[in-house]
Amino acid sequence: MVRNPVIVVSLKSHHPASLLGLPGETPLLSWRIASSKSELTQIAAELQAASDDRFEVIVDSKLVSGSVQVEVPAPGGNLQSREVRFYRVRIQTASGWSEFSEALRYEAGLLDPNDFKGIAIGDDSNHSAPATLLRKEFHVGSAKVAKARLYMTGHGVYESTINGVAVAEEFLNPGWTPYGHRLNVATFDVSKLVRSGPNVIGVTIADGWYRGKLGFMSEHAFYGDKTSVLLQLEITFEDGSQALVVSDESFKTSQGEVRFGDIYDGSTIDYNFAKQGWDKPGFEDGDWETARVREIEKSTLSQRIAEPIVKVGEFPMALTKQSDRVLLDAGQNISGWVRLVVDGKKGQTVTIRHAEVLESGQKLHTKALRSAKATDQYILAVDGRQTLEPRFTFHGFQFADVVSDAEVVSGVGVAISSGTRQRSTFSSSDERLNRLYKNVVWSQRDNFVGLPTDCPQRDERLGWTGDAQAFANTANTLVDAESFWRSWLIDLELEQDEAGDVSAVVPDILRTSPDEDWITQGRAGWADAATIVPYSIYESFGSKQILTQQLNSMRRWTDALDNRRAGGKYLPTQFQFGDWCDPDAPEDQPWLSKVSADFVANAFFANTAAITAKVERIVGSPEQSDRYKKLADELKSNIWADMGSEAMSTTAGCSITLEFEICPESEREKVAKKLASMVRSDQGMITTGFLGTPLILHALSKGGFFEEAYLMLMRREIRSWLYQVDMGATTIWERWDAIRADGSIHSGEMATDNDAQEDPSMISFNHYAYGAVVDWICRNVAGISPSFESPGYQRTIVAPRPAEGFKFAEADIDTPYGELGIHWQISQNGDLVTNLEIPFGVSATLEMPTSEKSEVFVNGSLFSNGESLSFGTYVVVTTNPRLVRY
Ligand code: BGC
Repeated sequence: MVRNPVIVVSLKSHHPASLLGLPGETPLLSWRIASSKSELTQIAAELQAASDDRFEVIVDSKLVSGSVQVEVPAPGGNLQSREVRFYRVRIQTASGWSEFSEALRYEAGLLDPNDFKGIAIGDDSNHSAPATLLRKEFHVGSAKVAKARLYMTGHGVYESTINGVAVAEEFLNPGWTPYGHRLNVATFDVSKLVRSGPNVIGVTIADGWYRGKLGFMSEHAFYGDKTSVLLQLEITFEDGSQALVVSDESFKTSQGEVRFGDIYDGSTIDYNFAKQGWDKPGFEDGDWETARVREIEKSTLSQRIAEPIVKVGEFPMALTKQSDRVLLDAGQNISGWVRLVVDGKKGQTVTIRHAEVLESGQKLHTKALRSAKATDQYILAVDGRQTLEPRFTFHGFQFADVVSDAEVVSGVGVAISSGTRQRSTFSSSDERLNRLYKNVVWSQRDNFVGLPTDCPQRDERLGWTGDAQAFANTANTLVDAESFWRSWLIDLELEQDEAGDVSAVVPDILRTSPDEDWITQGRAGWADAATIVPYSIYESFGSKQILTQQLNSMRRWTDALDNRRAGGKYLPTQFQFGDWCDPDAPEDQPWLSKVSADFVANAFFANTAAITAKVERIVGSPEQSDRYKKLADELKSNIWADMGSEAMSTTAGCSITLEFEICPESEREKVAKKLASMVRSDQGMITTGFLGTPLILHALSKGGFFEEAYLMLMRREIRSWLYQVDMGATTIWERWDAIRADGSIHSGEMATDNDAQEDPSMISFNHYAYGAVVDWICRNVAGISPSFESPGYQRTIVAPRPAEGFKFAEADIDTPYGELGIHWQISQNGDLVTNLEIPFGVSATLEMPTSEKSEVFVNGSLFSNGESLSFGTYVVVTTNPRLVRY
C-alpha cells in the first residue's frame, strides 16, 4: 500500500493543552499538516469526538469541506462538568485521506457553581499577618486510584500540597482578576500523590493582590481583609468508587514559617516557626484551631484558561563581597527572586534587597521601587549550609544585596512569568539589534506575570491598558499570547463601567469619579485596548473567537465615546494621558505631550470606530458595520479638516494621522514627507511617547521612507533604542534617558498633588511599551508580516527591507499552520538570497526589495515579484536589490 504523503502533525484546541478543568463550551480545533508533496491542499477534513482515546465510543463526528485549519468547532458540542473528550482529525487532499492525527485530550472543569460541595475556609488573621496554614488528614481505602483531581481557588495567593508534595510548580495562584466578578479555578492532576492509607492535604495562603499592598496609593486589602480557599479533591478508584474531600470546618489552621508575604514588599521566613511535617500524615494538630468559614461567592468561579505563572529561567549570580554586604548580579533584569545558599547558624538573619540598577559606589538603586520594599528576610533555625527562597512575592531586579552574619555561598536569579510559549526568534548581523530584541523578549516575560503589567518592580505592576495596546503586536509576535489575552480581555470587559468606558488599569483599582480632574476610565489610547488588542490577536493568530468574545465590549466602548460627544462634533476636552512620556514634555508632567490631547482623543476614537466596523463585518452585523464605518469616516474627515494642520506639526501627530488613516489618501504623501523631514532634521532622535512610538516606524516605512525609519532604529545617541543597549540595558526603559550618558540616573520626579503617595517619582528600567519596535523589526528587517485579510499568517507578506551594512537577518515564527522561517543574506556578488520555509496552508506573497535592474528567481526560475508561493522550501534570489541607505 502506498503511504499517503500527508500527515496531520498536531491538533490543538483554543485553550492551552497543558490545562485541565477547562470551560465546557465547544472547543475550537486547529491542526497542522505536513506533506511530502508541496502541490497538495486540504480539500476536506473529518473530525471525530470520542469518550476514549482509542475512539471506540465515538460521541460525534463531522466533515468540513475546504481548506480551513484554524478554530473549527469540535463535533459533539459542549461538555459537561468533568467530562473528558478525545478529538482527532484527518484530512483529504488530492492524494486521498490522511491517517488520523494523534488524539487531543480535553477535560472540562467543574462548570456549575453547585458542583463545589465545600465552603471557603481561612482563619481570623488580617493583612500583613503570617501566611495561613490549613491541613486536613483523610483516609483512602485499598482500592487503586485511577484518577484524582484537585479543584481549587482562593482569595489571596495559595500553594497546596498532598502528603508534603507540591501539587504543581506554579506560583501566585489564582492570579489577579477582578475578584468580585471572576475568580480563576485551577484543576490539578493529583492522581500520583494520593495513596492508600492516611493522606494530608496542606494549603498555605498569603495576602497576594487580594489583601496585600496594592497600587501606588499605599492601599492594603483592596478586595477584602480575609483570605480563604475553596477546594475540592475528587478521587476516582479503579473499581469505579469515588471519594471526595472538600474545604470545610474539618480543616485545622495555624501559622508557620512564612511570617510575612507581600507581592511588593517581599517575604519574611523565620524557620524557627516551621511546623515540621505539618503537611504529612501523623502530624499532631491538636493545638491547631478549627478553620473559619469564609465567603467566596460561587457565581464568580470560572475555569482558568490562561497558562499559570511558572519558572522560566535561572541566572547564576556573580558575587562581590563588600565591606558590609554581598552584592549579587544576575546579568539580566528579571521578575522573580533569588535562591540563596548560605552557610550560617541558628538565629542568624539574612536580609536581601533587590534593585534593577546600581548607583555609583555599587549601591542598589531602590528609589525606583518607590514604596515597594522588595526585601526578603530569613531567620535561620539550623546551623550549616541551607537554601533560602522567598514565597508569595516577586521582585523586578537584576541586582541584590545581602546583609547577614551568615556566609553567602551562591545565589541564583529565578525568573518567573506566565507560561506563554515563545513563538519566534530573530537574529541579524547587527549584534546591538539582536540585544535590543532580547531586551524586549525579557521585558515581555517580566511584565507578563499573570496579566500585562506596566513594570515588575515598583509599587505598581498594574494592568495598564495603554501599555498593553502599545505592545500587543509585538507581544503577539514574541509569544503565543492568545490565551493570556483571552483571559485578560474578559476582565477588561467586566471592568467596563455602565457608560461603557474601559478602565486605565485592568483589574481596575484606580477607578475615579467623572468629576475628578484626573479621570482614569475611557482615556484615549488606554481604553482603546478594548479594540486594538483583539484586532492584533486576530491578525496574528487568526482567531475569530477573540472577536466574537470581545465584540460587545468593543461596541460598548465605541458607543460610550459617541455618547460622550452629546451630539457635538468632538469629544469634550478632558484630562488625557496623551502621548504619555513624550520626551519633550516636562519631565515631571509626562501627560503634557507636544501633540494636542484633543487630536489624540478624537483620532483614537475614529480608529476604534473603524476597528469595530471591521470586526462587525467579520463576526457581527453588516448594518452595525456600516454604522461604525460611517462614524469613523465622519470623524476622520472632521478631524483632518479642523485639526490636521496642528497634528502635522508633531511627529506623533503625523504618525497617528497616517496609521489611523485620518487624512484622505490624496494627502498621505504630504503627511509622510512632513514626518520624514522632521525625523531627518532630528537625526532620528525619538520625539514620541507611548502612543506615537509604536506607530512612527510603520508610518514612515508605509510611506516609503525606509531611510528615516532605519535612521531612528539604528541611532545610538541618547533618545534611541540602541542608546539603551549601549548603556548595558537588558530590558526596555520607561524613559529614554533613564540613565544619562554620564551614568547618572533620572530622578523620575513627578508633579502630582496626591498626598496619599509618599514618593510620586516614576522611573523604571523595565517598561515594555517602547519595545513595540520589535513588530516593525520582524516585518521589515526580517521581512515577515501577517495580514488582517487572511489572518494568522495564512497569507504572509514576505518583504525584507535590508539596509546597507546588514549582512543577514533571520526570523521564524510559529504560526497556527506551523513554523514559518526566513533567512536572508547579501551574497558576495550583492544579490539578496532569501531562504523561505512556508508551512502547509500558508501562502506567502513576495514583495522583494527590487530596483529597476532587479530580477527575482525562485528556486532558479524567474518569478514575478508580488506573486505568492505556497507550502514548501524556497531559495529566492533578488539581483541588484534596493538597499536602504540611511
Ligand atoms: C505607568 C504607565 C502608565 C501610566 C499612565 C504609569 O504610572 O507606569 O506605564 O501607562 O502611568 O498614567
